[in-house]
Amino acid sequence: MRIMANYTLTLLSEGREETRRTDSGISLLEALQGFEDFDFDAPCGGKGTCGKCKVLVDGRLSPPEEQERKLLSAASLAKGVRLACLCRIEGDVSVTPLFSSSGARIVTHHAAFSGRVDPAVRLKRIELPEPTLEDQRSDELRLREILKDGNGEGMRPLPLSLVGALTLRMREGGGVTLGYAGDTLAAVFPGDAGPGYGIAVDIGTTTVVAYLLDLASGETIKAVSGLNLQKAWGGDVISRVQAAIDYGPEPLQKAVVNQLSRMIFRLIEENEIAWEDLRGISVAGNTVMMHLFAGIDPRHIAVSPFIPSFCGLRVEASSGAFPRLPAEVPVLLLPSISGFIGADITAGILSCKIRERDQPTLLIDIGTNGEIVLGNRERIVACSTAAGPAFEGANISRGVGGIPGAVNRISLDGDRIEFTTIGGLPPIGICGSGIIDLVSILVALGIIDEGGRLLPPDELPEGLADHLREMVAEEGFRLTADKEGHDLLFTPKDVREVQLAKASVAAGIDVLLEAYGIAVEEVDGIYLAGGFGSFIDTSSAVGIGLLPPELIDHIHPAGNTAGAGAAELLLSADAFAKIQDLASGVEYVELSASLRFQELYVERMFFPSLV
Ligand code: FES
Repeated sequence: MRIMANYTLTLLSEGREETRRTDSGISLLEALQGFEDFDFDAPCGGKGTCGKCKVLVDGRLSPPEEQERKLLSAASLAKGVRLACLCRIEGDVSVTPLFSSSGARIVTHHAAFSGRVDPAVRLKRIELPEPTLEDQRSDELRLREILKDGNGEGMRPLPLSLVGALTLRMREGGGVTLGYAGDTLAAVFPGDAGPGYGIAVDIGTTTVVAYLLDLASGETIKAVSGLNLQKAWGGDVISRVQAAIDYGPEPLQKAVVNQLSRMIFRLIEENEIAWEDLRGISVAGNTVMMHLFAGIDPRHIAVSPFIPSFCGLRVEASSGAFPRLPAEVPVLLLPSISGFIGADITAGILSCKIRERDQPTLLIDIGTNGEIVLGNRERIVACSTAAGPAFEGANISRGVGGIPGAVNRISLDGDRIEFTTIGGLPPIGICGSGIIDLVSILVALGIIDEGGRLLPPDELPEGLADHLREMVAEEGFRLTADKEGHDLLFTPKDVREVQLAKASVAAGIDVLLEAYGIAVEEVDGIYLAGGFGSFIDTSSAVGIGLLPPELIDHIHPAGNTAGAGAAELLLSADAFAKIQDLASGVEYVELSASLRFQELYVERMFFPSLV
């Protein structure tokens, strides 16, 4: 039972000083999650395993227990460093977060929209008769009659949010412009509204991006991005689902909706756009992110039979979805395909034009999960593999996200291993692209064997240069030292994590090829979505057996395909009309019950150069 207490928690973070009351006995992490708009990292979701929720504290907390002592040195503990999820509040405390992933690389670019600009929110200008003492019809009824719906028979009542906008606009005079999404009356704009502007949003588990679109020209005016502030509840989808089970979906919904609202404000205000010229907002994300955005408990997606609460295309009112915005516009939620293939993938299929292609084409989006799509104009199949967070650096001993100081590129120059870091800063860890490079090089040098064993010093291949031998220790491969002089060690367990992740994606590709009934040579090319696709070296990805060597010359980084698809939905009435059929037509292949996937997974555990 929680004991209410009069303790205060003071947050000192990047010029911010804020105090709130807190309960005693709860974890410091839980107390910190109560700060609104707080940028804090808790990658393992408070399980006490990642050691990254480091804070400097002054005040009364429970004494460190075994797990915290394991993850923090005695010197750090003596200085007042604690892990927020492993200590409990026992008095007034002030806290300074120590680990920050701010400054991370976020992919916002994507191919420009190339179709005909014909916005999904169609505009229809009407004049409404002034109400008089003699004409006592309600505003809604007056509108219905204008729309030739007689006395409203057969027409669904307008949502109250639109009735409010209608009344307001009518009294302003000068007529109104109705906005339709498909057949649905979705907005009432003042006067003779022009094409205006739209906002397309991609809610990723790690990052969020919002694009301001000119709905007359189809151009993207500006993009803003940030790390998804739900990261204070965990770095991956499963941690977020668990947090929604523990605390309800509301805190996670609030975190992302507030963050997006601020981004939308910034786009509108900094670009001097009038709020009444905003015509619509589109939203894409994976299925769990779509649920949390909507404030719906996603727990059933995470357990068999993995059923989401909703999947279909939706048109919502911004007063419900973004209550802080000073505009009433339609919010278009892109349709998901299944619990594991979300609206971000539907958006990717749309923007990569998979449905318009003659030759089968792969679309691969690798994050915590690896979503894979294979198809053309005739048929599209898709699966999701549990790629694990290895490629995001999350469960690698010295793994980090794509943040300044991360080793992002490793290459072999003769027999010398060279590397670069993001921003050219002293190394702090290795991010996904560096991890794939490193494993590829260690495989090529024979330091990792075919089965994925990182060889100990006494088993290294003959002919290996002395300086490379010296980099191999019993505990693993020592790439370099970090800026504090600690080894950047790549351990046998890290190799195992990469091996599991790459086998899972490679076997997923195999299963889809078999389901489609084609050989890999018949595939036209691979579109790699998101940050993973933008930053990895494709020959390293082929070198570890993640991607098929037959397609090495046909791999295309596609940027933020989810954002591109969300933008296309706003820019194209045709896309809006077809997107539900597009999503419903994708054949989802569930791998958890597939024996064939298990067989291929075991085969793909081997590294390719030695198979
Ligand atoms: Fe606290 Fe991972 S150790 S969030």
